[in-house]
Amino acid sequence: MRATPNTPAWIALSKHFQKDIADNALIKLFEAGGSTRFAQLSFQDQNMLLDLSKQRLTPKTLDLLTQLASERDLSKAIENLFNGGIVNESELRPALHTALRQSSGEYPNVDGKSVQPQIEANLQQMQSIVEKIHAGQWLGFDGQPINTVVNIGVGGSDIGPKMVCQALDEFSAQTRDTLQLLFVSSMDGSQLAKMLQHLDQGTTLFILASKTFTTVDTIANAETVRSWLRKKIPNDKLIGQHHFIGCSANTQRMDLWGIPEDHQVRLWDWVGGRYSLWSGIGLPIALKIGMQGFKDLLAGAQSMDHHFRTTEFKQNLPVLLAMTGIWNINVLGLKAHAILPYDGRLKLLPHYLSQLEMESNGKSVTTKGDRVSMDTSPVIWGDVGADAQHAFFQLLHQGTTAFYADFITPVARTPSDQYSKATQQQLQYQQDLNLANCLAQSRALMMGDSLLDWDESSDQAADHLYRGNHPSTSIMLEELTPYSLGSLLAMYEHKVYVQAVIWDINPFDQWGVELGKQIAKTTLNAISQRQNGQPVDEQFDKSTEGLLNYINQYGVGH
Ligand code: F6P
Repeated sequence: MRATPNTPAWIALSKHFQKDIADNALIKLFEAGGSTRFAQLSFQDQNMLLDLSKQRLTPKTLDLLTQLASERDLSKAIENLFNGGIVNESELRPALHTALRQSSGEYPNVDGKSVQPQIEANLQQMQSIVEKIHAGQWLGFDGQPINTVVNIGVGGSDIGPKMVCQALDEFSAQTRDTLQLLFVSSMDGSQLAKMLQHLDQGTTLFILASKTFTTVDTIANAETVRSWLRKKIPNDKLIGQHHFIGCSANTQRMDLWGIPEDHQVRLWDWVGGRYSLWSGIGLPIALKIGMQGFKDLLAGAQSMDHHFRTTEFKQNLPVLLAMTGIWNINVLGLKAHAILPYDGRLKLLPHYLSQLEMESNGKSVTTKGDRVSMDTSPVIWGDVGADAQHAFFQLLHQGTTAFYADFITPVARTPSDQYSKATQQQLQYQQDLNLANCLAQSRALMMGDSLLDWDESSDQAADHLYRGNHPSTSIMLEELTPYSLGSLLAMYEHKVYVQAVIWDINPFDQWGVELGKQIAKTTLNAISQRQNGQPVDEQFDKSTEGLLNYINQYGVGH
């Protein structure tokens, strides 16, 4: 583990760890905390409960962590975020995803102008697109109503909307469930090739979602789609007019590509890709759950924004979640973080959070351009908890890698009344089973085999030793709705920002991904030169050369 700085707050945390925590397993902390531990270490805001009592910490730890937040001037940093300060220093931009879900009060300015009119116009435009499609009035080139929308995007232009659409699928009944909504991201064209076999050019609309409109993955998929549309549709003007919508901050590129101006949904530099599901990038969400549903999602996020901005650190959910992470990473030295939603609808949440957190805080340079001294983002992975119990939980219970986990559960599930009474009862039973497993797993991770009544000297005890003492956070939502999901996602976004402030890194850029993109360009050149039997311009290392030879032997056309 990398050393933490020698500041008063960090020193106090480190002393507290040595004195009060290092030799006390979680079970001991529970014994010492008595009946008040849960009350002291669990926090609520509206529809959400954050339980930190299964973390390896005490109320004193949280006091010291909030002192660290103050030492890092977190209050000022939070105001700076909401006010449109330049929080993305390397690109000299604000990060105003919070303004996208604002609905009252004074909006922040960018370049001396309020962003309010642009945001409102954008929502208005989304609304008219959604209404037109839902009403069956968006027609394909030959006059048939559009019944399939395919979002083509990658990273933040894919994962967020896809995750929310999957999570809130059951809310689509309120709108128009005859609309098929699909997502394509993979650069290799495999998703698209299969999909196009079953689609009809006359009834399919494509959303090209790309903040930059330069991402090769998306442009390559878009070109493949256009060549497929050309098979049936006589000219590109008709194709643009009926079958493409663009969502981007780069209007010039959208023009060049042939997206008609009135099909261009604007995005702005001040919305980061992985923070963009609240913008026009969220159009698939609005198509899935209707514009009111989308606004409920924004409202849930806005309520978390308000909570984050106005609540003292000791009761502030994103701050507490973030600072607990800091404790786990920088004091306990944990480098792996499992995200475990106990709800099949949240299957893509771990994937979404891995982009949000790792692309934001996977950094090793401070805002001043120095090397960071501390560890930053851990490796984040996960799956639906109950499924993961039958997959990677073995490592969680008995492996040697140290980790911490977030258990995320909507509590109430109201089975639809379209089912018979008996099916409803069975579904309620399944939800109880799911909740029981969620609680049981976090408990087992905490207590290990002290839970079991084994004779310590027996072979069975030796074979089945569970160490326990693994920290976890439980996050419970009253139920999963657009509003509660909005709050949950905003809480994680703010958590990422708080951690970046503590580490003094910029969570809004991603230069690390650029090197691979540059190298891919010369490599693509080499692949086509070899395939055409031309001399290759570029020198490669021996491994890459060997792989290129293999590709040349077995790749396309062979
Ligand atoms: O390569 C990383 C990245 O820039 C992400 O940050 C972003 O979400 C994704 O690519 C897609 O970018 P764009 O929306 O510009 O196509």
